Amino acid sequence: MISMSLPLYNLIHLIAIMVLFAGIGASLAGADHVGTRKFGAILRGIALLLLLVSGFGMLSKLNFMKNMPLWSWIKVAIWLVIAMLPVIVKRKKLSATVAVIIALALGGIAAWLGYGHDHLPLWHSLLRPLF
Ligand code: HEM
Repeated sequence: MISMSLPLYNLIHLIAIMVLFAGIGASLAGADHVGTRKFGAILRGIALLLLLVSGFGMLSKLNFMKNMPLWSWIKVAIWLVIAMLPVIVKRKKLSATVAVIIALALGGIAAWLGYGHDHLPLWHSLLRPLF
C-alpha cells in the first residue's frame, strides 16, 4: 500500500483545489445544461472530500490534530461555505457571478492560511498570540 506522506497529502490538497474550482465553474456555467451541471457536482463532491481528507492528513502529520490551531478551524469554515455556494445559487439567493467572486476570495484566504500561517510577518506579529 502507498504510504501517505506529507508531500503526497500536500499534492492531493493542491490537485483537489484545482478540481474544486473547475467543478464550481462547470456547475455555475452549466446552469442550463444538465450534463455539465452534473459533471460539476461530481467534480465538486470528489474535490471537497479529497480537500478535507488531505487537509486533516496534513494536520495529523504535522502533529496539529491534538490541539487544532485556529487557522485550521477557519479553513474548515471556509470549506463549508465554498461547498454551500452552488446550492445557494441554485436556490436563487445569490447570482453565479457573486458566488464565483466569493469562492475565489475565500479560496485565496484559505490558501493564505495554509501557506502563510507560519511565515507571514504581519500575520505572525498581529495574530500569533491567538494560536
Ligand atoms: C477551499 C479550501 C482550501 C484551500 C483553497 C486550501 C489551500 C491550501 C494551500 C494553497 C495550502 C498550501 C500548500 C503548500 O504548502 O504547498 C494549504 C495547506 C494546508 N491546508 Fe489547506 N486549503 C483548504 C482547505 C483545508 C482544510 C479543510 C483543511 C483541514 C483542516 C486544510 C488544512 C491544511 C493544512 C494542514 C495545510 C498545510 C499547512 C502547513 O504546511 O503548515 N486546508 N491549503
